[in-house]
Amino acid sequence: MTISTVDTDTRTHSESEPSTSHADTTASRTPEVFERYESEVRGYCRSFPAVFQRARGASLWDENGRRYIDFFAGAGALNYGHNDPRLKEALLDYLAADGVVHSLDFFTVAKQRFLETFQDVVLKPRGMGYKMQFPGPTGTNAVEAAIKLARKVTGRSKVMSFTNGFHGMTLGSLALTGSEASRKGAGVSLQDAVRMPFDGYLEGGDTIDFIATMLEDASSGVDLPAAAIVETIQAEGGVNVARFEWLRRLAEVLARHDVLLIVDDIQVGCGRTGPFFSFEEAGIEPDIVCLSKSLSGFGLPLALVLLRPELDVWKPGEHNGTFRGHNPAFVTATVALDFWRDDALSRRVAASAEKVEASFGRLAEQARDAGVQATSRGRGMIRGLELTSDLAASISAAAFERGLILETAGAEDQVLKFLAPLTIDEGELTEGLEILEHSAEAVLAAAPESADA
Ligand SMILES: Cc1ncc(COP(=O)(O)O)c(C=O)c1O
Repeated sequence: MTISTVDTDTRTHSESEPSTSHADTTASRTPEVFERYESEVRGYCRSFPAVFQRARGASLWDENGRRYIDFFAGAGALNYGHNDPRLKEALLDYLAADGVVHSLDFFTVAKQRFLETFQDVVLKPRGMGYKMQFPGPTGTNAVEAAIKLARKVTGRSKVMSFTNGFHGMTLGSLALTGSEASRKGAGVSLQDAVRMPFDGYLEGGDTIDFIATMLEDASSGVDLPAAAIVETIQAEGGVNVARFEWLRRLAEVLARHDVLLIVDDIQVGCGRTGPFFSFEEAGIEPDIVCLSKSLSGFGLPLALVLLRPELDVWKPGEHNGTFRGHNPAFVTATVALDFWRDDALSRRVAASAEKVEASFGRLAEQARDAGVQATSRGRGMIRGLELTSDLAASISAAAFERGLILETAGAEDQVLKFLAPLTIDEGELTEGLEILEHSAEAVLAAAPESADA
């Protein structure tokens, strides 16, 4: 995530950009109320300090009517864009009819429809027999439920996670998170996590061979974990992509030792990479899957843990939460599954992804021409450009000034991260990518690295 410190005076503007500058519309007019009353913990609003009012599809408008193209998509919570008209209509109809909003885990018509539709549209066509657990509504709630269940099933306490992984901010999830800065915030020792190297982490070394050796050797010092939790693409960690072959070999090694495989598909599931689940193309069958973010399709909080039926050893109410399974979110989530009744969205993702990949390839070339090391990587509609943290932050800030929201990721925020809604139309995608390329050009031209080149 970018916390911008860029000096606005050094930025250039292209002919086509809106005449109102970032400084005019945002920083100088940011109502004091936020600084005065909102906790210092606030983050994204420091990098994108507009006061937003309205949103539709892949566009947001601030209180002054200035439009921004959204290449951030609620950090993956808005795969179908802002205020999709079909989802909005279903939600408004439900509320107008006094549909039950809150009901803990009572049976409701909204939950029944979601369960049936998710089974029919997502699980059964893929031959998946998962049972469905609704934990509290955020991603970290899903992760906590998944690891708690894995520990209960296996009787083992450790959970394996990976370098640069991110799984949320509650203590169990934080223990599994790579980032030192995030873990330090816990203020207590974080326990029962075993860190292993993600794909590509050891330059020239095969990380699966390493993991297999550590699990096989009784003297490695690594206790057999209950489960391993993995992101197929580490989004917050810097858009690190695991190869399908790596995921398959990981699944084999874990199965050999009866270690459960949990896929955290919270950020890159729900179609981000093309198919509904990001692990489908790898051909692996996780024991447990965590979903949240784009599951409701509308930005409403909803989380889901998918578990193999044999693992469902919970006692009634043993894991609970006041907001588990929220009916308005079930309503929009059910309609959002219409996107998955055919392969139109997956094909659209593939087509848009080609454009994005080409643009990021040009960006990487631009950077290299300016004497800066740059790598583009990603899959489907998630893509990253690894630069230096200063350059990534400067380009993100310059893009925001030109009306584009695009965050940074990675251990040092050194990666520019593309995460537009999957449904973005061609015109907006091209416009956003052009803004990004112009912003990079301006920043690179002024960068000290290019002077040295
Ligand atoms: C892969 C992954 N897991 C878990 C989480 C935590 O989700 P939440 O912020 O909703 O708790 C995130 C959030 O970015 C994530 O990207």
